[in-house]
Amino acid sequence: MPAGEILVVEGLRKYFVKGGGFLGGPRRVIKAVDGVSFTLRKGETIGLVGESGSGKTTTGRLVLRLLEPDAGRILFEGVDITHLPESKLRPMRPRMQMIYQDPYWSLNPRKPVGEAIAEPLIVHRLASRSEARERALELLERVGLTPPEDFYWRIPAQLSGGQRQRVVIARAMILKPELLVADEPVSMVDVSMRAEILRLLKDFQREYGLAMIFITHDLSVARLVADRIMVMYLGRIVEAGPAEEVLRDPRHPYTAALITAAPSVRRRRRRRYEIRGEIADPSNIPPGCRFHPRCPRATERCSREEPSLADIGDGRLVACHNPLPPGWLREWLKTQGES
Ligand SMILES: Nc1ncnc2c1ncn2[C@@H]1O[C@H](COP(=O)(O)OP(=O)(O)OP(=O)(O)O)[C@@H](O)[C@H]1O
Ligand SMILES: [Mg+2]
Repeated sequence: MPAGEILVVEGLRKYFVKGGGFLGGPRRVIKAVDGVSFTLRKGETIGLVGESGSGKTTTGRLVLRLLEPDAGRILFEGVDITHLPESKLRPMRPRMQMIYQDPYWSLNPRKPVGEAIAEPLIVHRLASRSEARERALELLERVGLTPPEDFYWRIPAQLSGGQRQRVVIARAMILKPELLVADEPVSMVDVSMRAEILRLLKDFQREYGLAMIFITHDLSVARLVADRIMVMYLGRIVEAGPAEEVLRDPRHPYTAALITAAPSVRRRRRRRYEIRGEIADPSNIPPGCRFHPRCPRATERCSREEPSLADIGDGRLVACHNPLPPGWLREWLKTQGES
């Protein structure tokens, strides 16, 4: 494992089985994550994007071993944690943290938020109760909930959505983790507060040298925070590369569809780059390229042969038999009447 890499993921897979057992119903195998490989460097942010149901949250939970993978390998700081028993994982847990999609579910509604922030230090026996309380007050101040003595005893219902998310961030940061999976951390936050909360995360990141997997389906948020972007479709990565490059010059038709469907583009243009239908059912993945039934560029080969994620140079990877030519998006925007 080359120096500087904090996480190496190879061929990760997670299938969920529904029905078919004692409770009956048709048996369905949901291929939530179906062969995902990537590496994350120290201090780097990967933006993980894709439509609802593409497997982003499952990927995040797998790499932190909050879910048991069915196949593949996860190396954290060079240690193979894929099947590490909980007793061995436990001392590593403080180094890897997750911020969940919905702050309502990540905070106990009856627990004062200061106690919630202090809790990880106590649970992992890294501080006495009074030390943990001191640290929690520092963190409250740090995330802008001042005066901290006032906020410490409030319960989540007494805070706004943005304030709750600051608490969630403080709680994740009190252990000074090296790896953070942030799952849509601003999607439930008022638009006016988003930039400030993202800045807060970035400040922690700089200070701790934190590596981040930032899950979002908002490409404008990904553009703000990510060094690299990985686009997921039905459990697979279909395109990856430096964030600016991928967003300026997408090469996978699905990435192009996501970009041209974004509200900032749509407002000004008549139509998006058309793809057909809704995201497919992860319990019924089509043969060949899983995107081919929706793809405007699909050929007969695409319905037979699954493309692998191939290196096209300059750190860019694309899983497509028939990728868009370089400069495609710029040309397409021109044909839409604007350059
Ligand atoms: N515990 C589970 N049991 C059964 N199916 C699950 C479970 N967790 C996730 N799934 C299914 O796996 C697929 C991928 O889910 P996942 O939550 O990873 O998607 P996502 O990309 O995070 O979507 P969203 O943008 O809506 O959060 C979905 O079809 C989902 O219903
Ligand atoms: Mg999710």
